[in-house]
Amino acid sequence: MLADKKIVFSGVQPSGNLTIGNYLGAIKNFSRFSEDFKTFYCVVDLHAITVRQVPAELRRRTYETLALYMACGLDEKKNTLFVQSHVPAHAELGWILDCYTMFGELSRMTQFKDKSAKNAQNINAGLFTYPSLMAADILLYQTDLVPVGIDQKQHLELARDVAMRFNQVYGDTFTVPEGYISTDTMKIMSLAEPLSKMSKSDSNQNAVVYILDSKDDVLRKFKKAVTDSEACVRYSEDKPGVSNLMTIYRAFTGKTFEEIEREFDGKGYGDFKMAVGEACADGLAPVRDEFARLMADKAHLETVMKAGADEAAYYARKTMSKVRRKIGFVN
Ligand code: TYM
Repeated sequence: MLADKKIVFSGVQPSGNLTIGNYLGAIKNFSRFSEDFKTFYCVVDLHAITVRQVPAELRRRTYETLALYMACGLDEKKNTLFVQSHVPAHAELGWILDCYTMFGELSRMTQFKDKSAKNAQNINAGLFTYPSLMAADILLYQTDLVPVGIDQKQHLELARDVAMRFNQVYGDTFTVPEGYISTDTMKIMSLAEPLSKMSKSDSNQNAVVYILDSKDDVLRKFKKAVTDSEACVRYSEDKPGVSNLMTIYRAFTGKTFEEIEREFDGKGYGDFKMAVGEACADGLAPVRDEFARLMADKAHLETVMKAGADEAAYYARKTMSKVRRKIGFVN
């Protein structure tokens, strides 16, 4: 154990505007660990460049993602908030773990298959070895718990396999991490195609609600959300559009599915979609306000990321010296 508390690590890519999927599936849950765990929350810019980025946008989004962490309730004094590329040990351990990750394992990653289908002109080696860098992020801090959405489960399992493989060869080196997947919100779906995940890289702007969308935009998007022809608010696998809206409504209001079904009994989808939009916009409003306040003080964000990187590097160094010694690198 690196600290006297159990360790939590998670990361978000600064590769697009963050969505309510990122918020409900991951970031909103991060602060529940701040008191009882040692927490590391990272803006994973090294991962973001596996897809071509406009440099100025990547830089801006890196600040924005950090500000969003804070706006979503992560106090920089209680959580280590930092940028991945500021701690070079991520890349170093990433390379080392590449040598303990099998080609076949990486070939089976569904995210690689999806992303390479979408970026056929740029299927680079980084996209392929992305999961071993993610394993490095996690294992570097001897992480016990990783809060993520369900789409990261396969990557997490790979991180566990790599940790166990390394431990088997060299003796106990890495903590084998567990995922923390919040079942209520583990997969928020697209509003336009409710059988696909809501994704920040979706080109259909109506399919995706961004954390920073204006209230008008949020209401408009929910108004257009795809439902079905039954005109009945009921949670069911064969009603993916309505069920997704119910999941979002539940997350923002704390109501149960039964309560929601009762609330909209006999009412049309118009009322329901309006209520979901209102609840979502109201839930996001404080985040948006706090985000605007934080973004106005870039110097403060830089102080936070610098302090976070120093703290993270301190912990990373401990793991790296153990790894280097075990592998046989000269000190
Ligand atoms: P990323 O940037 O795609 O997403 C950040 C987090 O948001 C979750 N998420 C969702 N949850 C529910 N519904 C959705 N529609 C939805 N979309 C995204 C993701 O599961 C994730 O938790 N590989 C990671 C970043 C990463 C990482 C790590 C995470 C790099 N290193 C180490 C944990 C630990 C990713 O691309 O997340």
